Amino acid sequence: MQQIFPGEVFADTADFDDGIRQLLPRYDEMLEVIIRCLPTTAGRILELGCGTGELTMKICQRCPDAEIVALDYSPRMLKFAGDKITDAGYQERWTGIQADFGEWAENPQNLDIGSEFDACVSSLAIHHLDDSMKLKLFQRIAGTLSLGGYFGNADPILAESPTLAAVYQTAREEWTTQQGNDLAQVRAKRGSSTQQGYSSQDQLATVDTQLQMLTKSGFQTVAVPWKYYNLAVFAAWV
Ligand SMILES: C[S@@+](CC[C@H](N)C(=O)[O-])C[C@H]1O[C@@H](n2cnc3c(N)ncnc32)[C@H](O)[C@@H]1O
Repeated sequence: MQQIFPGEVFADTADFDDGIRQLLPRYDEMLEVIIRCLPTTAGRILELGCGTGELTMKICQRCPDAEIVALDYSPRMLKFAGDKITDAGYQERWTGIQADFGEWAENPQNLDIGSEFDACVSSLAIHHLDDSMKLKLFQRIAGTLSLGGYFGNADPILAESPTLAAVYQTAREEWTTQQGNDLAQVRAKRGSSTQQGYSSQDQLATVDTQLQMLTKSGFQTVAVPWKYYNLAVFAAWV
């Protein structure tokens, strides 16, 4: 199996946009919840782990004045996102930076991406950090947002029990087959990853643990506006 960075998911980046919708239930609905919580007037937005730019495109469409700074450590994903954003005519509003968001949390002096962001968003990326790094990242995000700023994050969560883990897995597998896709064929397109920078394969935390981390990081309002089996959207405001 081809080696990829944790979070790239598929061996060929071109398979990501279709493949993620086949593997994960309600991917677009999940991203739209992040976007619905984002004020249309948002100016400066930070995106962590932008991947192929699917969330970025939804931000550009919702927030006509938004300028987006997007971090991703994968040159392949960043190139794919940049091409898509340029094709859509949003390139003036987008700055892609190849960087590890764990490094930004741990050693912010090494990566100056500015502060006073109106919002920070992320999807399917932060769960690659271990819990101590998740906490550091949440603290870094809280410190980077302007007063009242919003943090929206969609991620898989750790099941609270083995029974729930089995329920979540079955629901996810049924989703793929109900869409008319062959699970084995979709899975065969995935790459294999070990450690890359601060990320490794799934390092999941429960909803409760993540809400506590967000509160501890200084967010005043923390909520889960959407959840579908093991996928959750966290929304938090400083
Ligand atoms: C599953 S993809 C999700 C992409 C996009 N947010 C979406 O929802 O379609 C996760 C992305 O996070 C990136 N990523 C994972 N860990 C990272 C880290 N420590 N620093 C920067 N990017 C990271 C991966 O390269 C990948 O592009």
